[in-house]
Amino acid sequence: MGDDAPEAAPLLPFLGSFEYVLTVIGLVYTGKLVLEGLWKLITTARAHLWSRLWNKKLVETYGKWAVVTGSTDGIGKEYARELARRGMSILLISRTQEKLNKVATEIAEEFGVETEVVAVDFISGRPVFEDVARHLQDKDIGVLVNNVGVMLPHPMEFELASERDIWAHINVNVATVPVMTKLVLPGMLLRGRGAIINLSSIAATYPIPLMGIYAATKAFVDFFSQALEWEYRGSGITVQTITPSYVATNMLKFSELVHKPGMLNPTASTFVSHAIHTLGYAARTAGYWAHGIQCYLVERFLDRWVFMYGNYLWNSYLLHNMKKSQANSRR
Ligand SMILES: NC(=O)c1ccc[n+]([C@@H]2O[C@H](COP(=O)([O-])OP(=O)(O)OC[C@H]3O[C@@H](n4cnc5c(N)ncnc54)[C@H](OP(=O)(O)O)[C@@H]3O)[C@@H](O)[C@H]2O)c1
Repeated sequence: MGDDAPEAAPLLPFLGSFEYVLTVIGLVYTGKLVLEGLWKLITTARAHLWSRLWNKKLVETYGKWAVVTGSTDGIGKEYARELARRGMSILLISRTQEKLNKVATEIAEEFGVETEVVAVDFISGRPVFEDVARHLQDKDIGVLVNNVGVMLPHPMEFELASERDIWAHINVNVATVPVMTKLVLPGMLLRGRGAIINLSSIAATYPIPLMGIYAATKAFVDFFSQALEWEYRGSGITVQTITPSYVATNMLKFSELVHKPGMLNPTASTFVSHAIHTLGYAARTAGYWAHGIQCYLVERFLDRWVFMYGNYLWNSYLLHNMKKSQANSRR
């Protein structure tokens, strides 16, 4: 009886078996790309659009105080302002006492919240954290923004970096992140709530020639922060990694090209006004929509060598431009 049963017609009769296998692989791969794209779209909409529909009460959700490192300029200062706008008291930690006093007064007057300052130079490493710890004691720390960061004065070959530059990258960009985290985490765990925001960079995606030490420190922050997020899921503590591209701050003042604000390199205030909404809605995000597109394209479609070679050419160009405009201004 079985012998007489008609054979099932092949799904794609015009294909041989080898072509059939290749077609199935192609379809599965395309399906995977489409699903990934859709997932990216949904998570991006959730972080940037859905999040704006709710006025998240940060003090109730995370706690009374926000601690921001590197908070007298650029991205850190804007985080301090946005968190204060949402009712949080702000502990500003940065290097220059006068700038700290000025920012603290501005924030207290504009938003009517408590402020406190700690002047430390993170380049000094371990000893400064005793002072920081004293200020953190007995405070309900709700949010820590691990923002402080330095970069070489401009792209350069590593041999030209000073020893101070090297220690600055290690002590400021790397060491402060886990040490500050260790200072606030036990209290957050006791209270079962809190948020830690870590500033990495798109520069963490692959190594970057002429900015190698900076990119390497940002890769540290990225990896550390993602691992932390995984460890403390379900504990009530939110860990967020931010990976911006260019933001027009003092860090980029070596080049008019990238320092001049535009759609791709927003001011710190525009950047943070977007990034702040993503807190609690995205564990790892560029923070700003145009940077999100850049990060997605780079991570999804650029080979490591294309990224590295492209960045080498781009940084060489920025350096060349900088030298040219310095020469012109000397004339
Ligand atoms: N700007 C960008 O394009 C960009 C892109 C991706 C990621 N990021 C990251 O975002 C973070 C903030 O960058 P930014 O561009 O806003 O920097 P910024 O404008 O140069 O501001 C840096 C802040 O950190 C403080 N600071 C610097 N060195 C310090 C030290 N040794 N001890 C204590 N405080 C110190 C500065 O204090 P003073 O006021 O005393 O100078 C200032 O308040 C960094 O982690 C950076 O890597 C920036």
